[in-house]
Amino acid sequence: MRTPFIAGNWKMNLNHMEAIKFIEELSYKIENKNNIKIAVCPSFTSIRSVILVLEDESKKNIKMKIKVGAQNMYFEDNGAYTGEVSPQMLKALGVEYVIIGHSERRELFGETDESVNKKLKTAFKYEIKPILCVGETLKIREEGRAIDFTIGQIRKDLKDITADKINNLTIAYEPIWAIGTGRNATPKDANEMCMAIRNEISILYGSKTAENLIIQYGGSVKPSNIGELMMMPDIDGALVGGASIKVDDFLAIVNY
Ligand code: 13P
Repeated sequence: MRTPFIAGNWKMNLNHMEAIKFIEELSYKIENKNNIKIAVCPSFTSIRSVILVLEDESKKNIKMKIKVGAQNMYFEDNGAYTGEVSPQMLKALGVEYVIIGHSERRELFGETDESVNKKLKTAFKYEIKPILCVGETLKIREEGRAIDFTIGQIRKDLKDITADKINNLTIAYEPIWAIGTGRNATPKDANEMCMAIRNEISILYGSKTAENLIIQYGGSVKPSNIGELMMMPDIDGALVGGASIKVDDFLAIVNY
């Protein structure tokens, strides 16, 4: 049995004052009636503030605890890398998850499968659980190469990563054409890709590991479409962008 996992990727939104207000309201209102795993991924500058609020809130009700993730990190432990943030720094803050290889980082900031692979290895070394993002462009989908392309990313991103690490991995299938466009993949198409991903993990790491793997869908997830996405057998959760920075929308999504 896989526990569903819904995470909010706040992207470059909410300064630390806004983040405090947001997380106070979210933790006050949240019920988690589906008993799922929930995480928020703030900007680096807001992580500490969010964790402090949650540590306080968690004293009231540990069961509803919201986990915290980062949106990126560097692959070196520390050193002369101006402007980068190390996994060791995230670990010290109490960060549990890290998004790796988001398409915005791949498209806008030169992230490659090679750097994604290094980052995944470092995240595992520090026992920070990576959420690996993969997915195709519209052009690739229209050419009928979506599955080949996305599975190719997974093979490169997971190169030389051993099976014992995969239990701590989440994969997010995020078709680039569905991100921030309001146009989500149909549940059937999203599920087809998530099934192909699980199949590839089964080939690489065995069927038991594949059965336990959490695969999220991301791309224009909102209260009105989360229900049908979560009904699909191979979709175990969502990585939510825009709707995750509106408290009531995010609550409606986790209560799908
Ligand atoms: P939207 O939900 O805004 O489409 O963003 C999805 C995403 O990129 C999550 O990582």
